Amino acid sequence: MKTQKFLLTEQEMPRQWYNIMADMPTPMEPPLHPGTGQPCGPEDLAPIFPMNLIEQEVSTQQWIDIPEEILDKYAIWRPSPLFRARNLEKALDTPARIYFKNEGVSPAGSHKPNTALAQAYYNKVAGTKKITTETGAGQWGSSLAMCCSFFGIECKVFMVKISYNQKPYRRLMMETWGANCTASPSTETKAGRSILEKDPDSPGSLGMAISEAVEEAVSDENTKYALGSVLNHVMIHQSIIGLEAMKQMEMAGDYPDVIIGSAGGGSNFAGLAFPFARDKINGKNIDIIAVEPTSCPTMTRGPFAYDFGDTVQMTPLLPMHTLGHNFVPAPIHAGGLRYHGMAPLVSQLILDGIIRPEAIHQLETFKAGITFARSEGYISAPECNHAVAMTVREALKAKEEGKEKVILFNWSGHGLVDMASYESYFRGNLADHDLPQEQIDAALKDLETLPKPKQAK
Ligand SMILES: Cc1ncc(COP(=O)(O)O)c(C=O)c1O
Repeated sequence: MKTQKFLLTEQEMPRQWYNIMADMPTPMEPPLHPGTGQPCGPEDLAPIFPMNLIEQEVSTQQWIDIPEEILDKYAIWRPSPLFRARNLEKALDTPARIYFKNEGVSPAGSHKPNTALAQAYYNKVAGTKKITTETGAGQWGSSLAMCCSFFGIECKVFMVKISYNQKPYRRLMMETWGANCTASPSTETKAGRSILEKDPDSPGSLGMAISEAVEEAVSDENTKYALGSVLNHVMIHQSIIGLEAMKQMEMAGDYPDVIIGSAGGGSNFAGLAFPFARDKINGKNIDIIAVEPTSCPTMTRGPFAYDFGDTVQMTPLLPMHTLGHNFVPAPIHAGGLRYHGMAPLVSQLILDGIIRPEAIHQLETFKAGITFARSEGYISAPECNHAVAMTVREALKAKEEGKEKVILFNWSGHGLVDMASYESYFRGNLADHDLPQEQIDAALKDLETLPKPKQAK
């Protein structure tokens, strides 16, 4: 029998996270204070985040020790298995060798607990009593709910309204893990009320939910805010995915020619890709592809600009690819990919030519997800199907070219709580959304008065 799973023991789990900040080909431009437009110091972030996480956010240290308490809890689901997708290879009749890292094995069903656990731990150490956050599909909110429960911290989640209605079971998972979940925009915050005044039927967006969560955090000194993607410290925590994958690819006797991840704020993609991107920065030839939905084309159609992370302009200005903080994407089922911005580290590496962004329409992603489910068995989250669809494209290209490529992708989460989206697909109720340029131009108008990064095109 041929090997399909490459497994590491707890003892082989990496003991340090990787921080790509130490290896960036171009130095990062700093975040700016939302009021003054001047570079943000650690003290400016202190009302929102605990100081130990702020230190990680600005750290240029290449390797960061993972505390023993985090390793003990990581061991609930880590190391995660690496699979050789032999059945998918056969179904596609491709000469490519396809591998995927299965992050769906965590109790919450995705990669999100890798950073939720770390953030809950560092908040606990700093004395935080309550954490607020936003969630799109509910993967992040449920992950944070679980990890707050591990450390006895209260958790409050603002869930984008469209997903709140589409995914009731995610809300119940949050409740099971002891969190309080509210549909956003809500009447509980000033930000929510001002949005509802302008648009009572707003489907919500991650930008709006972040505004609500940040507002609640800054109004109480024992409450902090946690973000599930975008920021540097999140990318650091997620690097455990790629570090494990490197050891597992070595066990398999292969090295990837192509690395693929879906990208909402960039964290599962970066988690898998950054340790390999270090090799690319040092001369290796790897095609590293970040995949986004065509209806929220942050990387492929958004400029590199300074923008707020949220709708009501409370967060620092970050240098990133963005569609504008007021951009509201079509209500596609991949809720976790409906974010207007992209991680500054991912954005910078796109400018540097280390990462290649691609956008894919919704229907192609479901079609690919079903091919994957009918060959490998696993049912993917709609976000994750973007990585699956790109993998299928690359595998078919390898077939056309008659090339024996090695493709590695991040299977970022299962879709067992997202079956309503599959039902919409099967019943013919899903459509592709072409985004008119005028809609992007209108949203980008809000950036005109903001400071510009030096590398703005
Ligand atoms: C399964 C899954 N994959 C991918 C994403 C996208 O987020 P990120 O780009 O931070 O990995 C999400 C976000 O909710 C998700 O739930």
